[in-house]
Amino acid sequence: MVLLGEARVRVRRYEPGKSFYYREYRVKVGKYTTVLDTLLRIIEEQDSTLAVRYSCKMGICGSCGMVINGAPRLACETTFRSLGTTEVEVEPLYNFPLVRDLVTRFNELLFNNHRRVKPYLIRKDVKEQFNPVAEYRQTPLELAEFLAYSYCIMCGLCVAACPVVYEKPSFIGPQALAQALRWTVDSRDEGGEERLDAVDRGDGVWACEYVGACSKVCPKGVDPAGAIQRLKIMLATRTPRKILKLT
Ligand code: FES
Repeated sequence: MVLLGEARVRVRRYEPGKSFYYREYRVKVGKYTTVLDTLLRIIEEQDSTLAVRYSCKMGICGSCGMVINGAPRLACETTFRSLGTTEVEVEPLYNFPLVRDLVTRFNELLFNNHRRVKPYLIRKDVKEQFNPVAEYRQTPLELAEFLAYSYCIMCGLCVAACPVVYEKPSFIGPQALAQALRWTVDSRDEGGEERLDAVDRGDGVWACEYVGACSKVCPKGVDPAGAIQRLKIMLATRTPRKILKLT
C-alpha cells in the first residue's frame, strides 16, 4: 500500500433505543484504500462494536451503501483517491429505517416496493409462466431496450438520494419504478398492462418530481429518473383508451 497519510474518519453511530452520536477514528490509508476497508480495519483494530454491512467487496451485491461525505455511495468502491481528501464523514443511508450504526433495513422501501412491480417475465400462457421451456429470440435493439436497467444491484442509493421518498415515504421509489420499466420493455414479457396499473398512482410514477438525484448517484449507470419519465409517457398515451373504455 502506498501510504497517503492518516485519515480522520467520523462515523455516525446508532444503537436501538438510544440517540445517535458521532465517533472519530484515525486510520492510516493509501490512495486506493476504500472506505469499506477502512471501516473493517477500525472494527479489527480499534472498535469491534461498529456495525457495517457488506458481502462481495466488489460492487456487485449492493450491501455496503452508505452516505460518504454527504453523498450516497458504495463503500467498497469509494477510494480515498476518488474522494480527494483524508477527512471522511460516514453516515447510514438516508430515508431507510436504521438497524444499527451504518446498517439500514431494506425490507419496506426496497424489497417490498420492488415486489409490487412484478419484477419477472409475465406470460399469458400459464403453463409457460410456471414452467418456462420456450426460447425467445431478441434483436440487439430489443436487448438494448432493457439491458441498461438490468444493471441495478438494489443497493438503495437511489432511494436514499430521493427527496420525494423523504417527503412521502409511501412513494414506491426510483428503484422499483426503474425495474417496472425494465420488465415492461422486455420483448418476452406480456405483463406490461398490469405493471403499468401498479405504478399509475399518486404514490407511483406521478409522485416523481424529476429531481434526478437517483440517476446521479447510481453506481451502475442506471437512469431511474429517465425510466420514470418513460413510464409516464406510456401511461399518458394509454389514458384516452382507458377513458373511452370507462364512458
Ligand atoms: S460489498 Fe457488495 S457492493 Fe459493496
